[in-house]
Amino acid sequence: MKIIPVPLEYFADPLRYEKINYRRAGLSGIQLPVVSLGLWNNFSGVDSIENSRAMLRTAFDLGITHFDLANNYGPPPGSAEETFGAILKKDFLPYRDELIISSKAGYDMWPGPYGDFGSRKYLIASIDQSLKRMGLDYVDIFYHHRPDPNTPLEETMGALDAIVRSGKALYAGISNYHPKEAHQAIKILRQLGTPCLIHQPNYSMLDRWVEEGLLDELSKEGVGCIVFSPLAQGILTNRYLNGIPEDSRAAKPNSALDRAELSDMVISKVRRLNEFAQQLGLSLAQLAINWVLRRPEVTSALIGASRPSQITEIVQGTWKTALSKEDMQTIEVILSEE
Ligand SMILES: NC(=O)c1ccc[n+]([C@@H]2O[C@H](COP(=O)([O-])OP(=O)(O)OC[C@H]3O[C@@H](n4cnc5c(N)ncnc54)[C@H](OP(=O)(O)O)[C@@H]3O)[C@@H](O)[C@H]2O)c1
Repeated sequence: MKIIPVPLEYFADPLRYEKINYRRAGLSGIQLPVVSLGLWNNFSGVDSIENSRAMLRTAFDLGITHFDLANNYGPPPGSAEETFGAILKKDFLPYRDELIISSKAGYDMWPGPYGDFGSRKYLIASIDQSLKRMGLDYVDIFYHHRPDPNTPLEETMGALDAIVRSGKALYAGISNYHPKEAHQAIKILRQLGTPCLIHQPNYSMLDRWVEEGLLDELSKEGVGCIVFSPLAQGILTNRYLNGIPEDSRAAKPNSALDRAELSDMVISKVRRLNEFAQQLGLSLAQLAINWVLRRPEVTSALIGASRPSQITEIVQGTWKTALSKEDMQTIEVILSEE
């Protein structure tokens, strides 16, 4: 029987690896693009799959090799992984070895006591479900999504180790762990022989907790750091300078971006930051990303997007002027103003 090959619909830009810089995750062998794309919002079962597909293509054409997911991304939970799996099948399978795909478990996913937090039972069942939804044999990074105060860390880290040893993930990561918990987790993983590749905390000009010990800890331990919500879910962009646009995250029902976060004080700071960004020839989104990337401990800024042009703007911004000491001081003054 003659096999007729299915024509590929997408050919990645051959110049993609010249369009972005890469940084090494801690002391590991893995390099990540300085900007990675997360699929928490705008890739769910209620979003336009064509727009999701256009964003993924744009990102990969810009050299963004890392796509970040979690079991619960939706709505409904799981649907972002399904969307990603469908697009992967159409566009990205020939590029699988050029991609770093991550998923996570740790938040509420299914009913009963085994679908939340950090038991071995939950993590191992969840990775199987995620692989099925995405149509993958393995993910590159599997994270424990948040610390579990009631499960021994040895059990949770043991589950990550077992997942890596089973070949269902290539590397283990932790997310939202504070410095002391991170220290312990990293130590246990190292003892088990599955070093922690990377930590995923939130970090932006509006939320700087990682500067109080976590970045030092990761640097000391040789663990990478990929920072999520570097645009504070869109607050550190031009989106909310003049109210709440209808098509923005803050306008969506049940949004993780609470309108209360857009207080007069925050918006007035954002306006001042926006003016300063313009003086530097940057958009505010570009300034916010270059600001997190000023820290050498940060391997990658993990952004979200609602349209392809946002991703392009941010990657292009990483090539513009590096922030000087004086620029940093001006930003500090704006951030400290009441
Ligand atoms: N580990 C965890 O616990 C955790 C938690 C949260 C997120 N994450 C990860 O981090 C990823 C990113 O989080 P995030 O979406 O909150 O990140 P973010 O980059 O801070 O915010 C993304 C939003 O900013 C706006 N935006 C992006 N680029 C823009 C541009 N150039 N100009 C104007 N507006 C722009 C868009 O808002 P509009 O939609 O309004 O256009 C976009 O949806 C997630 O997808 C997920 O992978 C992890």
